[in-house]
Amino acid sequence: MAVYPKLSGIGEKYLYRQLVDIKSGDRPIAEMTGLLDNMSDQDLWDLAAYYNEQEMVVGQADPDLVEQGQALYRGGNMASGVAACAGCHSPNGAGNEPAGYPALGGQTADYVAEQLKAYRDGERAGGANAAIMADVASKLSDSEIEALANYVSGLN
Ligand code: HEC
Repeated sequence: MAVYPKLSGIGEKYLYRQLVDIKSGDRPIAEMTGLLDNMSDQDLWDLAAYYNEQEMVVGQADPDLVEQGQALYRGGNMASGVAACAGCHSPNGAGNEPAGYPALGGQTADYVAEQLKAYRDGERAGGANAAIMADVASKLSDSEIEALANYVSGLN
């Protein structure tokens, strides 16, 4: 199944870095092969700025998973050493633009789950920032990923 992210409002700096990594092949996205080849650095900043200005349309979270997802998102999991997502991605999922941490609120649950598994499995490259996320994701179980992905999709 193809899983596409929403890009609206996820953070200009973050999006720019992803575009650079996708263009260079560091973050291989089959569907985007070649699409960015003719774009200059300025074009990539312009694209990132454009998408960042669009408004995110938030989804509907599955109520059965919201409580677990919210507890993890806000407080992490002390027992397994999972850091609270809110600390970096902000309590309402808006991210942290100066730090280049992406907004998560309203992102599709399937995409979020896939990214968390990719970080956990070491399959999502992207330098120091991806390493931060790989460390967080390495401690997440499948059921925690499911709950978090669902919670985030309804967050705003
Ligand atoms: C210490 C800071 C930090 C914490 C804590 C953290 N993240 Fe992240 N997260 C990041 C950074 C930095 C990135 C960007 C990584 C990259 O460039 O690939 C990121 C990226 C992501 C992405 C990819 C977004 C996209 O658009 O592709 C997801 C999903 C995500 N984080 C979810 C979570 C969840 C869920 C938690 C809590 C379990 C969490 N993060 C905790 C810093 C953090």
